[in-house]
Amino acid sequence: MQQNELTDPKIWQYALDHTKDNSPRLIALKEETYASVSGAQMLSETLVVKVLQFFIRLQKPKRCVDVGTYTGLSALAMAEVTDSDTVIYTLDKKNQVGHKLAKKHIEKNGFEDKVKFLIGEAKESISLLPDDLDFIFIDADKKQTTVYFDLLLPKLQTGGVIIVDDVLWRKEVLNPEDKRAKALDVFNKYIASHPEVDNMLLPIRHGLNIIYKK
Ligand SMILES: C[S@@+](CC[C@H](N)C(=O)[O-])C[C@H]1O[C@@H](n2cnc3c(N)ncnc32)[C@H](O)[C@@H]1O
Repeated sequence: MQQNELTDPKIWQYALDHTKDNSPRLIALKEETYASVSGAQMLSETLVVKVLQFFIRLQKPKRCVDVGTYTGLSALAMAEVTDSDTVIYTLDKKNQVGHKLAKKHIEKNGFEDKVKFLIGEAKESISLLPDDLDFIFIDADKKQTTVYFDLLLPKLQTGGVIIVDDVLWRKEVLNPEDKRAKALDVFNKYIASHPEVDNMLLPIRHGLNIIYKK
C-alpha cells in the first residue's frame, strides 16, 4: 500500500514537513525495521503515530491496548507518552516476524515494566485483558476488526477511546470486493449506527475510525 492515497501528495508532504517528527527512539525503531524485518510497510505512519500520542496525552489513560504489535512502533509510541504507572498490553500472533525487535526496543528504552506482550490469537488474548481499559489501538487482522471491537467494548470504561487504522482500505470500501475491504465497510457501518459510541472517521492516510465510548 502507498503511504498516502487520500490526500494530494504535495499537501501530504507539506503537512509532514510542518509536523514535528516522531521521537528519535521511534525513528530508530522504524529504521531497524526497514533494515532487518520483512513487511515494513505495516509500520504505523508518522501522522498516525502522532494522532495516537495526542489522544493519549489528552486522555492520560492507565490501561492501553495495542492490537497488532509487529515491531512495536505503536506500543513504544504509547509507552513514551504515558505515565509510569500506565500498563500497555500489546497483542500479536505466535512466531511473528517483528517480535524480537519489538522486545529489544521496549527493553532498550526502559519500558519493559510498562509494556506487556500477549502472544497468540488476538481474540484469545483479548479475553485475558482486564475490564478497566481506557485506550485501544486496533491494527491487526482487518477481517476481524468487528470481532475485536465487540470483545473489547465491554472492557472499555465510559469515556474510553478506540482508534482503528486502515478503515478506508485503499478507498476500496466505496466498492468493496476483497475480504478486508468488505469487512472494514461492514465495521464502519456498524460503528456509525452503534448506540454505545460516538465516532469520527478521518480520511488520514488509510483512514482512522476514532471511537468514543459514551
Ligand atoms: C499492521 S501490523 C501492526 C503494526 C503496528 N501496530 C505498528 O504500529 O507498527 C499488524 C500485526 O497484526 C498481527 N496480526 C494479524 N492477525 C492477527 C491475529 N489473528 N492475532 C494476533 N495478531 C495478528 C500481525 O502479525 C502483524 O504483526
